[in-house]
Amino acid sequence: MFGALHTTLLNIAILHDAVTRGARPALALPERGGAIGAIFATSAQADGSVIMIERRIYRQDELPESLMWQAVSFMRVQWPSIFKGSLRLLKHTYPPDMGTVHFAITEEGVLLSYASVMRMDLPHAGERYVVHGFGNAFTFPPYRGEGLGRQVVDMATGFLRESDADVAGLFCAPGLERFYAASGWEALPGAVTRVGTPERFTAYGELRMMLFLSEKGRQARTAFAGEPLYVPWPW
Ligand SMILES: CC(C)(COP(=O)(O)OP(=O)(O)OC[C@H]1O[C@@H](n2cnc3c(N)ncnc32)[C@H](O)[C@@H]1OP(=O)(O)O)[C@@H](O)C(=O)NCCC(=O)NCCS
Repeated sequence: MFGALHTTLLNIAILHDAVTRGARPALALPERGGAIGAIFATSAQADGSVIMIERRIYRQDELPESLMWQAVSFMRVQWPSIFKGSLRLLKHTYPPDMGTVHFAITEEGVLLSYASVMRMDLPHAGERYVVHGFGNAFTFPPYRGEGLGRQVVDMATGFLRESDADVAGLFCAPGLERFYAASGWEALPGAVTRVGTPERFTAYGELRMMLFLSEKGRQARTAFAGEPLYVPWPW
């Protein structure tokens, strides 16, 4: 299933190194008992060679600039409509002041696959919820079909399950529903999403998929499926 990598893991070392002890971003993230860190996995190739893949979770201010630029450059090609108006020269995958967490799979500093989450406090149906937005998920084309997209989504989903979020949400084309559902995301077909406020909004038609994480979030499942959700922008 994972194509050329034939993911025979010969060695996995989980390093809770400087990343866990590093400086915190302005918007402090909750402690996650070692979720921030790196996993190095060596993978045997068909020709007998061994490659070193690194899966790592970074807080906003810890993502190396070279990885940020690789991610933003992918986005410019894949989602050019984002880069309009004041976002023409966008330099971050998500706004830097939203507690963004990055999930990166690299090989020798080359970004293979990536996703990110950011944190919001959103009103919904008369309550306020800690909502984590998931997005910017991609694998560079030469490395698709190797299981990396699944790994990056699983890494982010695991992180969200340990987070302080009530719910998490992503938007995708219907064709990707199975891809995300396999990592535990629940599709809410027909759920209405609006960009803006109840006074002024535009409809957003992409499929919304969610994770209901805290007790409060789980109890709000019906409200998130049935009541229009107002978002600042469709991340
Ligand atoms: C979607 C994407 C991230 C998948 O990356 P990948 O590394 O090739 O994914 P994987 O190899 O881990 O594949 C995992 C599963 O998803 C399926 N899948 C992969 N790409 C898919 C796609 N575009 N549509 C539907 N299913 C897809 C695979 O068939 C595989 O299924 P399986 O587990 O039953 O074998 C990649 O195609 C991509 O970057 N697309 C462009 C950006 C994009 O659309 N991102 C999603 C934004 S919501």
